[in-house]
Amino acid sequence: MSSPGKQSTQAYLRSHAGSPYMQYAKLRSSAKYNLAASGVMGYPLSELPVKLDDLEINGPTLYGYGPLLERLATRNGVTPDCVVASQGTSLANHLAFAALLEPGEEALVEWPTYELLTSTLEYLSVRVRYFDRGLERGFRVDPEEVERKITPATRLIVVTNLHNPSGAMIDDETLRAVGDIALKNNARVLVDEVYLESLFDERPRPAIHLGDQFVVTSSLTKAFGLSGVRCGWILANPELAQRMRYINDLYAANGAFPADLISVVALDHLDRVIARAKKLLEANRPVLDAFLQSRDDLACVRPQFGTVAFPKLLTGSVEALDRLAREKYETGVVPGKYFGEAQHFRIGIGGDPEMTRIGFERLGAALDELRS
Ligand SMILES: Cc1ncc(COP(=O)(O)O)c(C=O)c1O
Repeated sequence: MSSPGKQSTQAYLRSHAGSPYMQYAKLRSSAKYNLAASGVMGYPLSELPVKLDDLEINGPTLYGYGPLLERLATRNGVTPDCVVASQGTSLANHLAFAALLEPGEEALVEWPTYELLTSTLEYLSVRVRYFDRGLERGFRVDPEEVERKITPATRLIVVTNLHNPSGAMIDDETLRAVGDIALKNNARVLVDEVYLESLFDERPRPAIHLGDQFVVTSSLTKAFGLSGVRCGWILANPELAQRMRYINDLYAANGAFPADLISVVALDHLDRVIARAKKLLEANRPVLDAFLQSRDDLACVRPQFGTVAFPKLLTGSVEALDRLAREKYETGVVPGKYFGEAQHFRIGIGGDPEMTRIGFERLGAALDELRS
């Protein structure tokens, strides 16, 4: 970002607000063989027992639709007063940041990072510092590194679990150690768990159960293919949760009632949604593993769970690979520059298995051509 010049910093940030990654994802990421998507492919409404007669346009959404909040609370092992309804994890993160941070305060964010997190923090005039969880560390969060980078101005530590872009998982012991560092520094920890949902029945309890300093965000988007209903949530202590609900009045006001009704049906039939997502991932993960195994021009930590991986291209430019793969091989990946690591690219395995298999073949051909 260039210098604000004569404008006030806030006016500059408002006039330059936005997310380069989101613009890329919405406008330029589509491809016939799409390995760029980070979630499981869309779940069709026809697979859910929803009848038009069951839907209604208007209803009691106010501070969240009661039956939806109750289901989310039960699923996450908390009481409904700890659940804030939001439009996706995107708005959940925004509301949580706005409630937890004042302009000029500092957030300590993992690196590589999902760019929307830092664009949102900067939009809120929060200063961003980073701690490293790169390839050399196996994409692990090292509490000592967090301790080294935290400052007296840090009020929030931000991590994704599973990590976007690498898919690496943070275990409870590490989260507890990060939580202890936060407590000592009068800070909190935000854990974006949107990809943790893709562990399905093996999913650990949300990090809010590790202590009052934890705030969790998530949604039905990535693991279940239900992005269109925008069912997101924040888990926080009741007092913080209320503050976030009141801030939401300034942004989204209410949820969309028909979407909330469909979300309730989806949660009541989550077994079938999960069965389909698991089938897709179980078909595609061996294809990803075989691909990574076969490439000596890539360095990668193979994720055990989730929907994405983040290999490093050892020689050549990712920009050239992206262009070649897209233009000649009709295959899309996400250039690593969107996560702050220009020599990497992100690949997703939540798509149709046949499309994914061909996509990896074509990506391999593009890599072969690049090095020839
Ligand atoms: C880490 C992370 N959080 C949040 C989101 C946005 O999720 P949602 O669609 O629920 O707003 C994404 C989407 O890519 C993501 O990668």
